[in-house]
Amino acid sequence: MFSRYKKSAPVAQPKPEAAQAPADKAGEAKTQPIRRSNVGHLVPAHPSVTDKERKRKERMGELKVELHKRLLDNLNLSALEHATESDLKQEIASISAEALEELSVVLNKDERSMLHQELYDEVMGLGPLEPLLKDDTVNDILVNGPQQIFIERSGKLELTDITFKDERHLLRIIDKIVSAVGRRVDESNPYCDARLADGSRFNCMVPPIAVDGSLVSIRKFKKDKLAIDDLVKFGAFTEEMAAYLQAAVATRLNVIVSGGTGSGKTTTLNALSSFIDNNERILTIEDTAELQLQQTHVGRMESRPPNVEGKGAVTQRDCLRNALRMRPDRIIVGETRGEEVIDMLQAMNTGHDGSMTTIHANSARDGISRLENMVAMAGIEMPIKAIRSQIASAVNLIVQASRLQDGSRRMVSITEITGMEGDVISMQEIFRYERLGITPEGKIIGRFTATGVRSHFSDRFRQWGYDLPASIYDPIAAE
Ligand SMILES: Nc1ncnc2c1ncn2[C@@H]1O[C@H](COP(=O)(O)OP(=O)(O)OP(=O)(O)O)[C@@H](O)[C@H]1O
Ligand SMILES: [Mg+2]
Repeated sequence: MFSRYKKSAPVAQPKPEAAQAPADKAGEAKTQPIRRSNVGHLVPAHPSVTDKERKRKERMGELKVELHKRLLDNLNLSALEHATESDLKQEIASISAEALEELSVVLNKDERSMLHQELYDEVMGLGPLEPLLKDDTVNDILVNGPQQIFIERSGKLELTDITFKDERHLLRIIDKIVSAVGRRVDESNPYCDARLADGSRFNCMVPPIAVDGSLVSIRKFKKDKLAIDDLVKFGAFTEEMAAYLQAAVATRLNVIVSGGTGSGKTTTLNALSSFIDNNERILTIEDTAELQLQQTHVGRMESRPPNVEGKGAVTQRDCLRNALRMRPDRIIVGETRGEEVIDMLQAMNTGHDGSMTTIHANSARDGISRLENMVAMAGIEMPIKAIRSQIASAVNLIVQASRLQDGSRRMVSITEITGMEGDVISMQEIFRYERLGITPEGKIIGRFTATGVRSHFSDRFRQWGYDLPASIYDPIAAE
């Protein structure tokens, strides 16, 4: 039953059901001492590591290296593609049973099953990264060389005690990821974006550009994206703000979600998209497809980097231009970061209102400057006033997302663009998060409030049937 996954190499020591290494390698495995090295991703992140645990971990790490080597020697890797999980697990169990006996090592049931799972992850998955990828509480995985893996949980970064065996091990996993998407990383091509099989966003950079070992960043894909209700529950914004945003999206205002890295822009954009009517045709354009729209009529596009010969690139701008010919009711661009800004602004100005995107900026004002810069950098020779008036008539609303220092993610400001005053784009803030203090544990104390300014779009909201009570614009009385 398992022979499909074994190499058909000559068998060195016949043993029923057990996998055998080719003679030379088997000999090598026997004579070679078990390597002492700091492998192992055997215990989950946090616990305080006692001496006993550390020793156990070391021992398991050594065993794993040895067993992994034997597995690679024994398994017929080309047949693995078609192996079912249970077949392969049985195969691993049989190879490991044989090896443990040979090495006179006795493991208890838990240790054995943990070892087998890790071996399975090495062969079929992404090795030490696998348990982190499976852990739903982990948002980001950040690898700084083989010995240091950080994760982000609840907005906070923590160092794990998970490590790769060495740089080669890390490179092997990186290679596995990028080759699955037809890319390659090496000295001449030292960085790469990719998407993992589960949809997670992946970026890597390898030496010599990465000085202390390869750098990897993974933004985990959330199967269940946070919905508006979840965000309200988590304190990202209030129900009043949600009602306002619903009116804004449903009445087809052009919305930009602005924020720093990992501040929750994509999550917010995804949640806002839930306010779009189910009858509308939505086209989404992203560098890495992350958005998960709930509507039925959605066309998704993903840009493509050039191949090794530098050919075949399809940029977000190419997608956007093409999208305009695809009769969209709304266009959603995952993140505007380059020359596609021109087409995005034009689309927003020419009948594709209700479009949405995100930008990397620290405030609404900053966001506008960012847009101006992107237009200028796209090589458009236009007086600044003309650029600004183009932006002012294209963008209606800027939602500012932020990750505060205690790890909480909040919508710190909702700002409307109301037009131009002279050379300057005029804006008015409708809601904001006011920071009041900080607890001894470092948790930020604050509250959301309206600014007292009535929306510039209230008439539009009313005409479209979103008659928001005037009270939502009332500021919270100062305490
Ligand atoms: N309000 C929130 N509460 C809790 N977790 C959140 C909240 N908003 C976002 N997250 C989580 O934070 C992580 C980062 O969010 P997201 O991908 O939306 O950020 P981003 O600003 O788009 O990041 P990037 O700049 O890397 O594209 C995700 O795992 C997401 O699930
Ligand atoms: Mg994002």
